[in-house]
Amino acid sequence: MAALRARAVQVLDLNWAGDHTVPARSLYPHQWSWDSAFTAIGLAHVRPDRAWRELHTLFRAQWADGRVPHIVFNPEVPAENYFPGPGFWDAPATPHLPPRSTTGLVQPPVHALAVHEVFRRTGDRGRLAWFYPRLCAQQDYLAARRDAGADGLVSITHPWESGLDNSPGWDTAMARVPADPELLRVHRRRDNVVAAPAHRPTDEDYSRFLAIAGAYRDRGYDDTDLVGRHPFVMECPSFNALYALAESTLAEIAAELGRPGAHHRERARAVVTAMVAHLHDRRTGMFHARDVLSGERSPARCVNGLVPLVLPGLPDEVVTSLIEVATSPRFGLGGPLPVTSYDRTAADFDAVRYWRGPIWINMNWLLRRGLIGHGRAALAAVLRDRTLGLIDAGGSFEYYDPRTGAGLGAPEFSWTAALALDLLSDPLD
Ligand code: SER
Repeated sequence: MAALRARAVQVLDLNWAGDHTVPARSLYPHQWSWDSAFTAIGLAHVRPDRAWRELHTLFRAQWADGRVPHIVFNPEVPAENYFPGPGFWDAPATPHLPPRSTTGLVQPPVHALAVHEVFRRTGDRGRLAWFYPRLCAQQDYLAARRDAGADGLVSITHPWESGLDNSPGWDTAMARVPADPELLRVHRRRDNVVAAPAHRPTDEDYSRFLAIAGAYRDRGYDDTDLVGRHPFVMECPSFNALYALAESTLAEIAAELGRPGAHHRERARAVVTAMVAHLHDRRTGMFHARDVLSGERSPARCVNGLVPLVLPGLPDEVVTSLIEVATSPRFGLGGPLPVTSYDRTAADFDAVRYWRGPIWINMNWLLRRGLIGHGRAALAAVLRDRTLGLIDAGGSFEYYDPRTGAGLGAPEFSWTAALALDLLSDPLD
């Protein structure tokens, strides 16, 4: 495992861009929001100053309304190296643009957790105090501006906001968005030139991604009346789980800083209650995305429906059923490889296409935390070993083929390396 550790550090050094880490040089040459959070968790073990710097750079780009953008563009990267780049996203009418160009989307709020983890390794209370109000503002934006369903849950305005871009959980909602092939004639994709097209979302997906993003941009990223005026509004179970977890973590951060934290614990409890009421399905034993525009829950069984396991305060029967589904042949927890991103037994399971089947390390890292939190140490230890074994054998890839363990997508992928470092340093399941 010493070799794995050395290789993981090499990946993070290779991807360091001076004040942030790129997720992967080839495919993602800017700074991504939730990637930076996972990366900081790993950096804290080996490059603690960089871990703080990473998160600092991201939060320097936080908008005045509190949103933390999903991509912060590096002005030194040539425009043709990423699509859709700043030219697509910049909206002159936007009142909130920070100094660096960003998208107007958000990503799952894993940052309170990352800040707390980096603090635990470094003990730097001054930096913790710098982040605390910014993390609160991030949560307040989501609570105040993104509760489109008026049910206490956060809505996403784009599949990219979930981080699980082409997950089958979005299929029904995506099908309602007209796929305009003209958009792909005007704009040239870059992702399927630097990665295998069979491993990436399809052109049809991309034309809809662009249509949804363009609609949000053209309204200046305004969240007023999303239900009446936006084509894609969904409640994602992993986004909401991480949103609730962020509140629980903020309570811990507040305690460290000697500030009151009861309101954080209250909000966390309220979100968990709303998730169980609106996103949990007793028949399938797991959580499902909910389409706020139709009121329907997606029938697809996706890994984001297992991630709520990470929540403290989940009812016992919900925990038991989540673990049953995760260990079933649908997801394979406890088997030779980590958990897949989609139900292996589904007719449209695709072992290589991004979030429609492959194994992702951040999802498994979160599930392991959930298992530990709910007293399943033995299963957590198996998942840790399988996850490290996969990375050791295949390299730090973006995702992996669940039939063979072969690496897919971008090589030398930062969060895979970072989370391997975290798992290596934390064998205490
Ligand atoms: N994940 C998207 C991409 O592939 C955008 O965040 O570029």
